[in-house]
Amino acid sequence: MKEARIPLAKPSITELEVAYAGDAAANGWGDRCYDYLTRFEAGFAAHMGSGYAIATSSCTGALHMGMAAMGIGPGDEVILADTNWIATVSPIVHLGATPVLVDICPDTWCIDPAAAEKAITPATKAIVATHLYGNLCDLDALRAIADRHGIALIEDAAEAVGSTYRGAPAGSVGVFSGFSFHGSKTMTTGEGGMFFTPSEALYEKVLTLSNHGRSRKEAKQFWPEVVGYKFKMSNIQAALGCAQLERVQALVARRREILHLYQERLCGLPGIRMNPELAGTRIGAWMPTVVFGAESGVLSSTVIPVFQGRNIDARVFFHPLSSLPMFEGLAHNPHAIDIAARAINLPSFHDITLQEIDRVAEVVRSVLHA
Ligand SMILES: Cc1ncc(COP(=O)(O)O)c(C=O)c1O
Repeated sequence: MKEARIPLAKPSITELEVAYAGDAAANGWGDRCYDYLTRFEAGFAAHMGSGYAIATSSCTGALHMGMAAMGIGPGDEVILADTNWIATVSPIVHLGATPVLVDICPDTWCIDPAAAEKAITPATKAIVATHLYGNLCDLDALRAIADRHGIALIEDAAEAVGSTYRGAPAGSVGVFSGFSFHGSKTMTTGEGGMFFTPSEALYEKVLTLSNHGRSRKEAKQFWPEVVGYKFKMSNIQAALGCAQLERVQALVARRREILHLYQERLCGLPGIRMNPELAGTRIGAWMPTVVFGAESGVLSSTVIPVFQGRNIDARVFFHPLSSLPMFEGLAHNPHAIDIAARAINLPSFHDITLQEIDRVAEVVRSVLHA
Protein backbone atom coordinates (compact mmCIF):
# COMPACT_ATOMS: atom_id res chain seq x y z
CA MET A 1 0.00 0.00 0.00
CA LYS A 2 1.21 3.49 -0.87
CA GLU A 3 2.24 5.58 2.15
CA ALA A 4 0.29 8.81 2.83
CA ARG A 5 1.63 11.79 0.91
CA ILE A 6 3.76 14.33 2.76
CA PRO A 7 3.48 17.68 0.97
CA LEU A 8 6.37 20.12 0.86
CA ALA A 9 4.34 22.99 2.31
CA LYS A 10 0.87 24.01 3.37
CA PRO A 11 -0.48 26.93 5.37
CA SER A 12 -1.77 26.97 8.93
CA ILE A 13 -5.33 28.29 8.76
CA THR A 14 -7.28 28.54 12.02
CA GLU A 15 -10.72 29.84 12.96
CA LEU A 16 -9.16 33.31 13.26
CA GLU A 17 -8.20 33.45 9.56
CA VAL A 18 -11.60 32.05 8.57
CA ALA A 19 -13.42 34.60 10.75
CA TYR A 20 -11.47 37.59 9.41
CA ALA A 21 -11.73 36.48 5.76
CA GLY A 22 -15.44 35.78 6.25
CA ASP A 23 -15.96 39.22 7.75
CA ALA A 24 -14.05 40.85 4.86
CA ALA A 25 -16.14 38.90 2.32
CA ALA A 26 -19.42 39.77 4.04
CA ASN A 27 -18.77 43.32 5.15
CA GLY A 28 -15.54 44.64 3.62
CA TRP A 29 -17.11 46.73 0.90
CA GLY A 30 -18.06 50.36 0.36
CA ASP A 31 -16.75 52.48 3.24
CA ARG A 32 -14.98 49.45 4.71
CA CYS A 33 -13.26 48.23 1.54
CA TYR A 34 -9.76 49.08 2.80
CA ASP A 35 -10.21 48.28 6.52
CA TYR A 36 -8.19 45.06 6.62
CA LEU A 37 -5.63 46.43 4.16
CA THR A 38 -4.93 49.48 6.31
CA ARG A 39 -4.79 47.33 9.44
CA PHE A 40 -2.47 44.77 7.79
CA GLU A 41 -0.06 47.43 6.53
CA ALA A 42 0.05 49.22 9.90
CA GLY A 43 0.45 45.91 11.73
CA PHE A 44 3.27 44.81 9.44
CA ALA A 45 5.10 48.12 9.83
CA ALA A 46 4.81 47.73 13.62
CA HIS A 47 6.12 44.17 13.34
CA MET A 48 9.17 45.58 11.52
CA GLY A 49 9.74 48.13 14.30
CA SER A 50 9.16 51.30 12.30
CA GLY A 51 8.88 52.31 8.67
CA TYR A 52 6.29 52.08 5.91
CA ALA A 53 4.53 49.06 4.42
CA ILE A 54 2.41 48.61 1.28
CA ALA A 55 0.53 45.34 0.75
CA THR A 56 1.02 44.01 -2.77
CA SER A 57 -0.23 41.20 -4.98
CA SER A 58 3.16 39.46 -4.68
CA CYS A 59 6.73 39.95 -3.53
CA THR A 60 7.70 40.08 -7.19
CA GLY A 61 5.43 43.13 -7.59
CA ALA A 62 6.89 44.73 -4.45
CA LEU A 63 10.45 44.31 -5.78
CA HIS A 64 9.41 45.60 -9.20
CA MET A 65 7.79 48.76 -7.85
CA GLY A 66 10.65 49.46 -5.46
CA MET A 67 13.21 49.22 -8.24
CA ALA A 68 11.04 51.31 -10.56
CA ALA A 69 10.66 53.98 -7.87
CA MET A 70 14.45 54.09 -7.52
CA GLY A 71 14.67 54.80 -11.25
CA ILE A 72 16.42 51.53 -12.13
CA GLY A 73 16.26 51.12 -15.90
CA PRO A 74 18.19 50.72 -19.14
CA GLY A 75 21.96 51.16 -18.75
CA ASP A 76 21.88 50.24 -15.03
CA GLU A 77 23.35 47.10 -13.53
CA VAL A 78 21.93 45.31 -10.49
CA ILE A 79 24.02 42.72 -8.65
CA LEU A 80 22.35 39.65 -7.15
CA ALA A 81 23.22 36.09 -6.17
CA ASP A 82 23.19 33.50 -8.93
CA THR A 83 21.29 31.28 -6.47
CA ASN A 84 17.89 32.91 -6.52
CA TRP A 85 14.32 32.34 -7.51
CA ILE A 86 13.49 33.87 -10.92
CA ALA A 87 11.27 36.43 -9.13
CA THR A 88 14.31 38.36 -7.92
CA VAL A 89 15.80 38.84 -11.37
CA SER A 90 12.65 39.26 -13.46
CA PRO A 91 11.85 42.84 -12.30
CA ILE A 92 15.41 43.87 -13.20
CA VAL A 93 14.96 42.46 -16.70
CA HIS A 94 11.46 43.92 -17.13
CA LEU A 95 12.77 47.36 -16.18
CA GLY A 96 15.41 47.09 -18.92
CA ALA A 97 18.37 46.93 -16.52
CA THR A 98 21.15 44.33 -16.60
CA PRO A 99 21.38 41.62 -13.93
CA VAL A 100 24.89 40.74 -12.75
CA LEU A 101 24.97 37.28 -11.18
CA VAL A 102 27.59 36.59 -8.52
CA ASP A 103 28.45 33.60 -6.36
CA ILE A 104 27.13 32.67 -2.95
CA CYS A 105 28.89 31.96 0.34
CA PRO A 106 29.17 28.22 0.83
CA ASP A 107 27.96 28.44 4.46
CA THR A 108 24.87 30.67 4.23
CA TRP A 109 24.03 30.06 0.52
CA CYS A 110 23.45 33.84 0.31
CA ILE A 111 25.27 36.42 -1.83
CA ASP A 112 29.04 36.60 -1.25
CA PRO A 113 29.83 40.24 -0.32
CA ALA A 114 33.37 40.04 -1.76
CA ALA A 115 32.03 38.77 -5.08
CA ALA A 116 29.39 41.49 -5.07
CA GLU A 117 32.00 44.20 -4.48
CA LYS A 118 34.20 42.82 -7.26
CA ALA A 119 31.28 43.05 -9.69
CA ILE A 120 30.63 46.77 -9.09
CA THR A 121 31.09 49.03 -12.13
CA PRO A 122 30.18 52.68 -12.77
CA ALA A 123 26.82 51.37 -14.04
CA THR A 124 25.92 49.56 -10.80
CA LYS A 125 22.78 50.91 -9.16
CA ALA A 126 22.07 48.33 -6.47
CA ILE A 127 22.89 45.04 -4.78
CA VAL A 128 20.01 42.71 -3.94
CA ALA A 129 20.50 40.67 -0.77
CA THR A 130 18.24 37.62 -0.86
CA HIS A 131 17.87 35.91 2.52
CA LEU A 132 17.73 32.43 1.06
CA TYR A 133 15.37 29.99 2.78
CA GLY A 134 15.31 32.38 5.74
CA ASN A 135 19.13 32.31 6.18
CA LEU A 136 20.69 35.73 6.64
CA CYS A 137 22.94 37.58 4.20
CA ASP A 138 25.98 39.29 5.68
CA LEU A 139 24.16 42.61 5.95
CA ASP A 140 26.97 44.48 7.74
CA ALA A 141 29.41 43.71 4.93
CA LEU A 142 26.86 44.42 2.18
CA ARG A 143 25.77 47.71 3.71
CA ALA A 144 29.38 48.83 4.10
CA ILE A 145 30.07 47.97 0.43
CA ALA A 146 26.91 49.74 -0.74
CA ASP A 147 27.79 52.84 1.31
CA ARG A 148 31.41 52.85 0.13
CA HIS A 149 30.34 52.78 -3.53
CA GLY A 150 27.27 54.98 -3.22
CA ILE A 151 24.86 52.31 -4.40
CA ALA A 152 21.65 50.96 -2.89
CA LEU A 153 21.17 47.80 -0.85
CA ILE A 154 17.83 46.11 -1.51
CA GLU A 155 16.64 43.14 0.57
CA ASP A 156 14.67 40.28 -0.91
CA ALA A 157 13.10 39.03 2.30
CA ALA A 158 10.49 36.90 0.50
CA GLU A 159 11.55 33.87 2.52
CA ALA A 160 12.67 35.63 5.68
CA VAL A 161 9.66 36.49 7.81
CA GLY A 162 10.87 35.94 11.37
CA SER A 163 14.59 36.12 10.56
CA THR A 164 16.64 38.72 12.41
CA TYR A 165 20.14 40.16 11.95
CA ARG A 166 21.75 41.61 15.08
CA GLY A 167 18.24 41.92 16.47
CA ALA A 168 16.86 43.79 13.43
CA PRO A 169 14.19 42.06 11.34
CA ALA A 170 15.37 40.89 7.93
CA GLY A 171 14.08 43.46 5.46
CA SER A 172 14.62 46.46 7.75
CA VAL A 173 18.21 47.25 6.77
CA GLY A 174 18.05 47.97 3.03
CA VAL A 175 16.65 50.95 1.11
CA PHE A 176 13.58 48.77 0.68
CA SER A 177 12.60 45.13 0.92
CA GLY A 178 10.00 42.71 -0.37
CA PHE A 179 8.20 39.91 1.50
CA SER A 180 6.17 37.06 0.06
CA PHE A 181 2.93 35.67 1.45
CA HIS A 182 2.60 32.92 -1.14
CA GLY A 183 0.76 29.83 0.14
CA SER A 184 4.01 28.02 0.89
CA LYS A 185 5.39 30.76 3.11
CA THR A 186 5.52 30.92 6.92
CA MET A 187 2.89 33.66 6.84
CA THR A 188 0.44 33.56 3.96
CA THR A 189 -2.40 35.39 2.23
CA GLY A 190 -2.63 32.77 -0.55
CA GLU A 191 -0.77 34.96 -2.97
CA GLY A 192 0.51 38.33 -1.82
CA GLY A 193 3.46 40.34 -0.66
CA MET A 194 4.63 43.43 1.15
CA PHE A 195 6.78 46.36 0.11
CA PHE A 196 8.63 47.75 3.11
CA THR A 197 10.89 50.79 3.42
CA PRO A 198 12.26 53.00 6.19
CA SER A 199 12.13 55.95 3.74
CA GLU A 200 9.00 58.09 3.68
CA ALA A 201 9.95 59.54 0.27
CA LEU A 202 10.33 56.09 -1.34
CA TYR A 203 7.08 54.99 0.30
CA GLU A 204 5.19 57.90 -1.24
CA LYS A 205 6.64 57.13 -4.67
CA VAL A 206 5.72 53.44 -4.48
CA LEU A 207 2.27 54.25 -3.12
CA THR A 208 1.61 56.35 -6.21
CA LEU A 209 3.10 53.72 -8.54
CA SER A 210 1.05 50.98 -6.86
CA ASN A 211 -2.22 52.74 -7.63
CA HIS A 212 -1.72 53.16 -11.38
CA GLY A 213 0.27 56.35 -10.85
CA ARG A 214 -2.51 58.06 -8.92
CA SER A 215 -1.10 60.19 -6.12
CA ARG A 216 -2.79 60.29 -2.71
CA LYS A 217 -3.19 64.01 -3.36
CA GLU A 218 -4.43 63.67 -6.95
CA ALA A 219 -5.57 67.02 -8.32
CA LYS A 220 -8.82 65.53 -9.61
CA GLN A 221 -10.46 62.13 -9.55
CA PHE A 222 -8.98 59.43 -11.84
CA TRP A 223 -5.93 61.56 -12.60
CA PRO A 224 -2.79 59.39 -12.83
CA GLU A 225 0.42 61.45 -12.85
CA VAL A 226 2.66 58.69 -14.18
CA VAL A 227 2.21 55.26 -15.75
CA GLY A 228 2.17 52.99 -12.71
CA TYR A 229 1.27 49.44 -11.80
CA LYS A 230 -1.67 47.49 -10.45
CA PHE A 231 0.05 45.25 -7.93
CA LYS A 232 -2.38 45.77 -5.06
CA MET A 233 -3.53 43.20 -2.52
CA SER A 234 -7.26 42.69 -1.98
CA ASN A 235 -8.98 43.44 1.33
CA ILE A 236 -9.99 39.78 1.67
CA GLN A 237 -6.36 38.65 1.34
CA ALA A 238 -5.37 41.32 3.85
CA ALA A 239 -7.91 39.87 6.29
CA LEU A 240 -6.03 36.56 6.13
CA GLY A 241 -2.81 38.52 6.58
CA CYS A 242 -4.12 40.25 9.72
CA ALA A 243 -4.89 36.90 11.31
CA GLN A 244 -1.51 35.44 10.31
CA LEU A 245 0.25 38.51 11.67
CA GLU A 246 -1.44 38.02 15.06
CA ARG A 247 0.00 34.47 15.03
CA VAL A 248 3.36 35.25 13.46
CA GLN A 249 5.45 34.52 16.57
CA ALA A 250 3.91 31.07 16.88
CA LEU A 251 4.20 30.40 13.13
CA VAL A 252 7.91 31.26 13.16
CA ALA A 253 8.57 29.37 16.41
CA ARG A 254 7.06 26.25 14.88
CA ARG A 255 9.26 26.57 11.75
CA ARG A 256 12.31 26.80 13.96
CA GLU A 257 11.15 23.80 15.98
CA ILE A 258 10.68 21.73 12.80
CA LEU A 259 14.19 22.66 11.60
CA HIS A 260 15.63 21.64 14.98
CA LEU A 261 13.79 18.31 14.86
CA TYR A 262 15.35 17.63 11.46
CA GLN A 263 18.78 18.78 12.67
CA GLU A 264 18.60 16.41 15.67
CA ARG A 265 17.93 13.53 13.30
CA LEU A 266 20.27 14.44 10.42
CA CYS A 267 23.16 16.66 11.42
CA GLY A 268 25.20 13.78 12.88
CA LEU A 269 25.17 11.93 9.56
CA PRO A 270 28.41 12.03 7.54
CA GLY A 271 28.85 15.19 5.47
CA ILE A 272 25.33 16.55 6.08
CA ARG A 273 24.88 20.30 6.52
CA MET A 274 21.65 22.15 7.13
CA ASN A 275 20.53 25.80 7.47
CA PRO A 276 23.18 27.63 9.52
CA GLU A 277 22.50 30.14 12.26
CA LEU A 278 25.61 32.31 12.38
CA ALA A 279 26.53 34.48 15.37
CA GLY A 280 24.26 37.54 15.59
CA THR A 281 21.53 35.99 13.47
CA ARG A 282 18.28 34.20 14.22
CA ILE A 283 16.83 32.40 11.24
CA GLY A 284 13.11 32.16 10.53
CA ALA A 285 13.80 28.65 9.19
CA TRP A 286 11.29 28.87 6.36
CA MET A 287 12.65 25.90 4.45
CA PRO A 288 14.78 23.16 6.04
CA THR A 289 17.51 22.31 3.55
CA VAL A 290 19.99 19.47 3.45
CA VAL A 291 23.32 19.73 1.65
CA PHE A 292 24.90 16.32 1.11
CA GLY A 293 28.68 16.14 1.48
CA ALA A 294 30.61 16.27 -1.81
CA GLU A 295 32.43 13.07 -0.82
CA SER A 296 29.10 11.21 -0.35
CA GLY A 297 28.45 11.30 -4.10
CA VAL A 298 24.74 11.88 -3.33
CA LEU A 299 23.09 14.20 -5.86
CA SER A 300 19.71 15.92 -5.61
CA SER A 301 18.82 14.49 -9.03
CA THR A 302 19.05 10.97 -7.62
CA VAL A 303 17.53 11.75 -4.21
CA ILE A 304 14.33 13.45 -5.42
CA PRO A 305 13.08 10.27 -7.17
CA VAL A 306 13.71 8.28 -3.98
CA PHE A 307 11.49 10.76 -2.09
CA GLN A 308 8.87 10.53 -4.84
CA GLY A 309 8.91 6.74 -4.48
CA ARG A 310 8.05 7.22 -0.78
CA ASN A 311 5.26 9.71 -1.64
CA ILE A 312 7.15 12.64 -0.09
CA ASP A 313 7.52 16.04 -1.77
CA ALA A 314 11.14 17.15 -1.54
CA ARG A 315 12.29 20.07 -3.64
CA VAL A 316 15.44 20.86 -5.57
CA PHE A 317 17.62 23.70 -4.33
CA PHE A 318 17.35 26.71 -6.68
CA HIS A 319 19.18 26.14 -9.96
CA PRO A 320 21.72 28.89 -10.61
CA LEU A 321 19.96 31.59 -12.66
CA SER A 322 22.94 31.43 -15.04
CA SER A 323 21.96 27.85 -15.89
CA LEU A 324 18.51 28.92 -17.17
CA PRO A 325 18.11 29.39 -20.93
CA MET A 326 17.56 33.18 -20.61
CA PHE A 327 20.75 33.76 -18.65
CA GLU A 328 22.96 30.95 -19.91
CA GLY A 329 26.60 31.93 -20.08
CA LEU A 330 26.04 35.17 -18.15
CA ALA A 331 28.17 33.89 -15.27
CA HIS A 332 29.96 30.85 -13.90
CA ASN A 333 29.68 30.63 -10.13
CA PRO A 334 31.24 27.46 -8.68
CA HIS A 335 29.45 27.43 -5.28
CA ALA A 336 26.05 28.16 -6.82
CA ILE A 337 26.55 25.25 -9.23
CA ASP A 338 28.08 22.84 -6.72
CA ILE A 339 25.60 23.32 -3.86
CA ALA A 340 22.54 23.17 -6.12
CA ALA A 341 23.70 19.77 -7.38
CA ARG A 342 23.75 18.20 -3.94
CA ALA A 343 21.07 20.00 -1.90
CA ILE A 344 17.34 19.53 -1.38
CA ASN A 345 14.55 21.23 0.57
CA LEU A 346 12.58 19.07 3.02
CA PRO A 347 8.85 19.25 3.79
CA SER A 348 8.04 21.82 6.45
CA PHE A 349 4.62 23.02 7.49
CA HIS A 350 3.04 24.03 10.79
CA ASP A 351 1.09 20.81 11.33
CA ILE A 352 3.73 18.31 10.19
CA THR A 353 3.81 15.40 12.66
CA LEU A 354 6.80 13.78 14.36
CA GLN A 355 6.03 10.60 12.45
CA GLU A 356 6.20 12.52 9.16
CA ILE A 357 9.51 14.14 10.15
CA ASP A 358 10.84 10.68 11.05
CA ARG A 359 9.73 9.32 7.66
CA VAL A 360 11.54 12.15 5.84
CA ALA A 361 14.70 11.70 7.95
CA GLU A 362 14.65 7.97 7.28
CA VAL A 363 14.76 8.59 3.52
CA VAL A 364 17.75 10.93 3.93
CA ARG A 365 19.48 8.25 5.99
CA SER A 366 18.67 5.57 3.42
CA VAL A 367 20.33 7.45 0.55
CA LEU A 368 23.46 7.77 2.68
CA HIS A 369 23.21 4.06 3.66
CA ALA A 370 23.62 5.33 7.24
C1 LIG B 1 13.72 34.56 -2.91
C2 LIG B 1 12.37 34.90 -3.48
N1 LIG B 1 12.17 36.11 -3.99
C3 LIG B 1 10.99 36.48 -4.49
C4 LIG B 1 9.91 35.62 -4.49
C5 LIG B 1 8.64 36.07 -5.09
O1 LIG B 1 7.55 35.99 -4.23
P1 LIG B 1 6.08 36.02 -4.85
O2 LIG B 1 5.78 34.63 -5.30
O3 LIG B 1 5.23 36.45 -3.69
O4 LIG B 1 6.09 37.00 -5.95
C6 LIG B 1 10.05 34.34 -3.95
C7 LIG B 1 8.93 33.41 -3.96
O5 LIG B 1 8.95 32.31 -3.57
C8 LIG B 1 11.32 33.96 -3.44
O6 LIG B 1 11.50 32.74 -2.93
